Amino acid sequence: MRLVNITEVPQGSKIAKPVYDSKLSLLINSGATLTENLIGKLMQVDIRHLYIEDEISKGIVLEPMISDELKLQTIVFMKNIYDSQMQKDNTPTEQVREDSIRELKALIDDIITEIYSKNNQKYYSTELMGAEMYHYNHAVEVMILSLLIGKKMGLDRERLLKLGMGAVLADVGKTRVPQEILNKKGKLEPEEFEEMKYHVQYSYNILKDLVGLSSLSRQIVLLHHEKLE
Ligand SMILES: [Fe+2]
Repeated sequence: MRLVNITEVPQGSKIAKPVYDSKLSLLINSGATLTENLIGKLMQVDIRHLYIEDEISKGIVLEPMISDELKLQTIVFMKNIYDSQMQKDNTPTEQVREDSIRELKALIDDIITEIYSKNNQKYYSTELMGAEMYHYNHAVEVMILSLLIGKKMGLDRERLLKLGMGAVLADVGKTRVPQEILNKKGKLEPEEFEEMKYHVQYSYNILKDLVGLSSLSRQIVLLHHEKLE
């Protein structure tokens, strides 16, 4: 199995990992042969990378450290949190709900359990969903990498959970950055960049009064773009 750019899929190779849409509906299952027609359809829904099985990758097994199911569930949960910050009329809501924080903690706790249980395994990031899920996928990847670094640093389980919560929520304030700036292709103008930088403060404002979120997690959110000189 190997990960390839969708524009470079060799003819006749097979899908090695299923692909899902943003509602976790199965778009294409593993084992399907990738025809030109199928690749075209996947590109239409903005899928950019695929795990494939072909001659080169024959016999290479990638056992995920974090199960795809748990990871997908967390990505979709993050999408729901982001969506909850945007009403239908695009007016941001005030806060993330306390029960969402509780559920998110339970998901991260499960991820920590998987990290501990597969101690010697290498982690590789996955592209299990289309580009529309980029922000949520990114939030979950940042969280998992933070947990792995934190574990290596010797943090205990309780601190790991706080670290994971801060890491996964750090960019939630991007929901307050105007879409035309957030999704702009190419270089941002200086004033646009200033607005973009302000997502840190937006994130903090959204999360600061949540009883279920530790002060350590909130600090991580507030400081996640600071650089130690
Ligand atoms: Fe950020």
